[in-house]
Amino acid sequence: MTLLWGGRFNGSMDDVMARLNNSISFDIRLWGADIRGSVAYAAALAEAGILTHDESAQLIQGLQQVYLEFEHNTFAVQPADEDIHTAVERRLKELLGDVAGKLHTGRSRNDQVATDLRLHALDEIAQLQAHLISLQETLLTRAEVHGQTLLPGFTHLQRAQPVTFAHFLLAYFWMFTRDRERLDDCSRRTAVLPLGSGALAGNPFPIDRAALARALGFHDISPNSLDGVSDRDFAAELLFDCALIGTHLSRLAEDLVIYSTSEFGFISFDDAYSTGSSLMPQKKNPDAMELSRGKSGRLLGNLVSLLSMLKGLPMSYDKDLQEDKEPLFDSLDTLALVLPAVAGAVRTLRVNEDRMRADLDPAMLATDVAEYLVRKGLPFRQAHHLSGRAVALAEQHGILLSQLTDSDWQSLSPLLTPDVRNVFNFAKSVDSRDVAGGTSLRAIREQIDLAHQWLTAHPLPEGRNLH
Ligand code: ARG
Repeated sequence: MTLLWGGRFNGSMDDVMARLNNSISFDIRLWGADIRGSVAYAAALAEAGILTHDESAQLIQGLQQVYLEFEHNTFAVQPADEDIHTAVERRLKELLGDVAGKLHTGRSRNDQVATDLRLHALDEIAQLQAHLISLQETLLTRAEVHGQTLLPGFTHLQRAQPVTFAHFLLAYFWMFTRDRERLDDCSRRTAVLPLGSGALAGNPFPIDRAALARALGFHDISPNSLDGVSDRDFAAELLFDCALIGTHLSRLAEDLVIYSTSEFGFISFDDAYSTGSSLMPQKKNPDAMELSRGKSGRLLGNLVSLLSMLKGLPMSYDKDLQEDKEPLFDSLDTLALVLPAVAGAVRTLRVNEDRMRADLDPAMLATDVAEYLVRKGLPFRQAHHLSGRAVALAEQHGILLSQLTDSDWQSLSPLLTPDVRNVFNFAKSVDSRDVAGGTSLRAIREQIDLAHQWLTAHPLPEGRNLH
């Protein structure tokens, strides 16, 4: 077998070494990015006067043919194709003969692979954004009709204060806005071109790196060739972004799993997103949620895996860096599966408003009792204490807080006049929290408007192919 770098070698590579060394099994998915990068590079070499325009045109035509072979699934990987870069160049040589050997002038696989991975990451970020947009739209659409659907709000998973189902859904909407902003930010740092860094010391031919960057959709070029070939910060950032998206999805999944139990019964999942048990005929399991909760583990693991690989690397390129790809690909694949599944499950779940309402306990309005006293001029700490006494009294009598008699209330404080009963209205309580970000219908409508404005201001990035 002929190797790209075979000149100084006499012996052949041990089979196990070849298997360890080869990355084609996973980096083959970089074929599109690799060929795009090479087409731009072939043009840059001609512009720099290193290749004739005719040679450059031949290379570009050959690369286009290789592209078609990949696209039509007719590209045949050969045993000596250790990675995607080798495979493309080998095929180019078969198609064009010796002129193919001019493509790599001044370029190394080190600046090539860094470029390919960035190009690929940029496309994948656009995909992720598209999936996140559709999840956000789903959350928003469902929130729009539940502005007055009362839901027990929890802290410590204990009933705390009433909120609305819209407010709950929108909380997740905002988490995903931050994820999308992070991805935008990550895109900016990813779209910096390493090509032209050579193996580590730069390119000896006068290629116009800025023009190359523009041709490939990058907004800048890397300012240092050593950093250019060894920087994988963009991959680490993207993996962090994926891990946090996974964390958010996992929290949503956990909430919805709890809400879907017979004990809660707040929601039920459509059959399309549930599975049955092979043993217990009555079971309907929320597997879509459990899997997205479970897969958040590998998203976190992939981040840790990349950072651990990077932390001890001496300047500049080291073969360890070949290990950057699998965690990145795995996280992107995972989210490409989980995000639409979660969106689908949320889009189709049934909301059981009666069960949500039935779970509201008047004790969840104890804070409102304290606020009633505050409105009568009592300092909040004393009001809080008195309301706590009322809760204890109701518990002692084995009755609901709202069932205390006028004289019970009076026994606690003369300020607790019979109109304290007006406090026991869940809808009124929710509607009284009218500050921006609160639960009142007005505040929820405002929040929904803000969410729409946010979506309009953050459309899909343009110029990236969606596949
Ligand atoms: N397959 C390699 C990688 O993924 C490509 C770069 C190889 N460079 C080298 N000097 N051997 O990192």
